[in-house]
Amino acid sequence: MREFHKNKIAIYEYDEWRIIEKAFDEKTNQRSETIFSLGNGYLGIRGNLEEGYSGDPKTSLVGTYINGIYESEPIMYGEYHYGYPLWGQTMINVTDWRLISFWIEDEKFDMLKGSIKDYNRTLDMKNGKLTRELIWRSPKDKEIYVKIERFVSLTNKHLAAIRFMIKPLNFDGEITFISELDGNVKNKNLREQALIVIDKWADERLGYIQQKTNKTEFTIGCSMYNDFYCKEQDIEYSLEKIEEDKKIGIKITFKGEKDQTYILDKYVNFYTSRDVVENEIMNYAKEGVLEAKTAGYDNLYNEHKEYLFKFWEDADIKIKGDIALQQGIRFNSFQLLQSVGRDGITNIGAKGLTGEGYEGHYFWDSEIYVLPFFLYSRPEISKALLMYRYNTLDKARERAREMRSKGALFPWRTINGEEASSYFPASTAQYHIDADITYAIYKYVEATDDFDFLINYGAEIVFETARMWADRGGYIPLKDNKFCINEVTGPDEYKPCVDNNCYTNYMARFNLNYGVYVAELLKAKYPQKYEELKEKINLKEEELVEWKNAADNMYLPYDERLGINPQDDSFLYKEPYDVDSIPVEETPLVTNWHQLNIMRYQICKQADVILLMFLLGDEFDIELKKRNYDFYEPKTTHDSSLSACVFSIIASEIGYKEQAYNYFMQTARMDLDDYNNNAHEGIHTACMAGTWASVVNGFAGMRVYNGELHFKPYLPEKWESYEFRVKYKNRQINVKVEDNLTIYKLLDGDDIVIWHKGNRVELSKMKEVTLS
Ligand code: BGC
Repeated sequence: MREFHKNKIAIYEYDEWRIIEKAFDEKTNQRSETIFSLGNGYLGIRGNLEEGYSGDPKTSLVGTYINGIYESEPIMYGEYHYGYPLWGQTMINVTDWRLISFWIEDEKFDMLKGSIKDYNRTLDMKNGKLTRELIWRSPKDKEIYVKIERFVSLTNKHLAAIRFMIKPLNFDGEITFISELDGNVKNKNLREQALIVIDKWADERLGYIQQKTNKTEFTIGCSMYNDFYCKEQDIEYSLEKIEEDKKIGIKITFKGEKDQTYILDKYVNFYTSRDVVENEIMNYAKEGVLEAKTAGYDNLYNEHKEYLFKFWEDADIKIKGDIALQQGIRFNSFQLLQSVGRDGITNIGAKGLTGEGYEGHYFWDSEIYVLPFFLYSRPEISKALLMYRYNTLDKARERAREMRSKGALFPWRTINGEEASSYFPASTAQYHIDADITYAIYKYVEATDDFDFLINYGAEIVFETARMWADRGGYIPLKDNKFCINEVTGPDEYKPCVDNNCYTNYMARFNLNYGVYVAELLKAKYPQKYEELKEKINLKEEELVEWKNAADNMYLPYDERLGINPQDDSFLYKEPYDVDSIPVEETPLVTNWHQLNIMRYQICKQADVILLMFLLGDEFDIELKKRNYDFYEPKTTHDSSLSACVFSIIASEIGYKEQAYNYFMQTARMDLDDYNNNAHEGIHTACMAGTWASVVNGFAGMRVYNGELHFKPYLPEKWESYEFRVKYKNRQINVKVEDNLTIYKLLDGDDIVIWHKGNRVELSKMKEVTLS
């Protein structure tokens, strides 16, 4: 069994609600920039130092990102073939707004010069604030206390603010603050600078930069307002504006006195041409910071805190008995909330808004991993993720035409709804994304009863994806005329372009059946809507018959001799390989082995059949689940961070508690402790959501069968208890698991029946039910 968590490099202090860095180290700077990211689903900023960084540029990545704002460059192919996407999409690094530096006479504040003491950098996850505090001794022995706080507002998506405080400790003397907006920004992986400055100005406190992307023509406006004051007394200071080629700034000079606290509050607003018409951007951004100044830093921060307070009430998992895990779980939930788009036109990137890994692209990670995390605490966010798919459905239809398919084919990786991957075997061939999206629609409607969404938006996606499957597969004579789906890649990207990937066939069958079900439902209950939709997409009744036939005759791989579900038609004919013998330095294999070698062995990158047994759990009995687990577990490298959580969930279900815990450990602190040595590129959002699932679906065994909630909880040996809340069909239930006891309490909504270890339990409001 792989144990990546043993590679951990723990550098933060353990604390239930905070991530604390007690020493600044250049070597881990870039990881900390990711870990200390702040965001609100629209705007994200890495934990870059306000004053800039004089260390090795290779140990830092400066980044502010706006969800959905990207640049395109032609993809370079050695050999181009029909249907390869021509244009890439890269979430761009936008105006650098965080810059605030100060000088004590001619010495610039720099943590890498002089010396620092009493340093700590703290991400307060309960309140959504990043704080850095230290005492700096300059090379000329001036000592100054520095405290910098910042937040990215969760209640006003355009707003971010910094409070920069300094207090001379052993001197009086001239101090200068410089606060800037810098338009000279780049992405690591773009060949050209994406943003050009088209307008900029500064007056004494306000400043503004407007930029435009070269190809995609997004306009982005960034404004700032700087409010300077001394805490103890009124002071005199001079203001001067700075204008450079791509930069504007404001210089504040004053006579600093020992033991006085000087504060600069910087309010920033971002607006883009997606938010308002282009010639209004500047007004909105300018008004935004003026209003922020009027409201004041403390009030804005309190509103933001209040939002988080409510989020934690609903979404927190409380663990007693392991502080490191508690911290890890909260960090993951916090980063998910900070990364997820919630406007229906954006989604959540595999790396959130915290880095440039995967170019900011959205994957199936959204529907299969992240969406369930929000579904049971903030269902409206899950809906917004699905609305994003609805809003890009036309592009999926176009892609299907290009691929000579009927219906719609959603892109494997994208920002704007078009396929952006240059390597089809691990992208376009993953047709399963269509079924993943449909499955997420089904789960959303199941948990919310939001039929309004289903009839107005969801159904159209379900029908178009069912159409794609009916057309994509075919009846193969040598397979007993079963409906087979050939040349696809399942979740396991180490077996690309195979026939009858088990996950894909089962999920496609689900998609087809759900298509028929939704059509019948609409016919019976919303006939007019059904007629309108039929007309809109030119749906014929014969198609429903076709879907049903394909589903009924779907080829579902099963091997009698081994009693397992082969991952695909060729998997069992590949050479076995002792995965445990692969040295850690050779993983992930994809960067160390030629693809052909990875492909010829029975080696899996990530959960495939195992994931299927979780998603469609009632189609596999427990013995089969065990046999499949025993078969695939030793063959899986977990080179994808999407894997371990799924193995943990199934290990819990089949009673392999030690393995369940071990796999859970590999997800919970993956980015914090940097198991894969790549946190510097950004967080792993799917894995983070998988942590939540490992607890709720794994340890607590939560599943929904026939529309009812089932639990099968147990307590991991090392813990004293754990507790979480679930919103389901307009109810909210609190679940607390202690040693040998589970306590259910319906907090909100009408009485509901749930199932505890196979027994029916009735819950009524505010009455605790304790079960062994
Ligand atoms: C995984 C995919 C995943 C992608 C983005 C890849 O390594 O194999 O399943 O969608 O990462 O997270």
